[in-house]
Amino acid sequence: IREDPRSASVYIADYIISRIQAFKPTQEQPFVLGLPTGSSPEFIYKILVQRHRAGEISFKNVVTFNMDEYVGLPRDHPESYHSFMYKHFFSHVDIPPQNINILNGEATDLTAECAAFEARIARYGGIELFLGGVGPDGHIAFNEPGSSLNSRTRVKTLAYDTILANSRFFGNDVDKVPRMAMTVGIKTIMESREVVIVATGAHKAIAVQKGLEEAVNHMWTLSALQLHQHPLVVCDRDATLEL
Ligand code: GLP
Repeated sequence: IREDPRSASVYIADYIISRIQAFKPTQEQPFVLGLPTGSSPEFIYKILVQRHRAGEISFKNVVTFNMDEYVGLPRDHPESYHSFMYKHFFSHVDIPPQNINILNGEATDLTAECAAFEARIARYGGIELFLGGVGPDGHIAFNEPGSSLNSRTRVKTLAYDTILANSRFFGNDVDKVPRMAMTVGIKTIMESREVVIVATGAHKAIAVQKGLEEAVNHMWTLSALQLHQHPLVVCDRDATLEL
């Protein structure tokens, strides 16, 4: 628990850097990092970029997998997760473009796209560290309430709560928010060797309470992490108000 979102973000950025440095990645054995979008990770990316510019960390031998993407939004749409990632992170660091993996929301065969994504993760030997956020309804990635805890990368219909929450990025127009997304599954996340979740703000307090203090269940998918071998949830004070 950190005092405010800023210090929670600094903590996480420094934590990720320390994990990459300890791993000593090479081209043959890169560090495989799962990444989220959303407003919570924005500041984490900012710090990572700053540390990179200061010469403290290189992403040359880091391979990334983004956890989700909207279905039907062109890559260059300003609100696609593809655009978000380049704007906030990839364009500012030394990661080789071939190391970046983001689901293609415009793929003609979405099922094949999801299967290929899982296969690519497996080819790299799995994900070393998965950074994620949490939705106010307790979702991780886009694993909405009711998602199977055994799920893998697939297409999900978004919950109305999520459409409402994300409409702030679409000029507060719910009709502009895509209805579907592709997302890694709970099982994909659970198979990562380490999972770090950022939860900041009072609007996340119920999700944090349900996810951490109640039983493991598929309605608050954050709760699956209670069974993970190496989870870390970093909150600011507000997100812990219901604990
Ligand atoms: C979206 C993303 C999630 C993210 C969540 C919370 O729905 N698919 O991966 O964790 O929003 O986002 P924010 O950090 O903006 O609250």
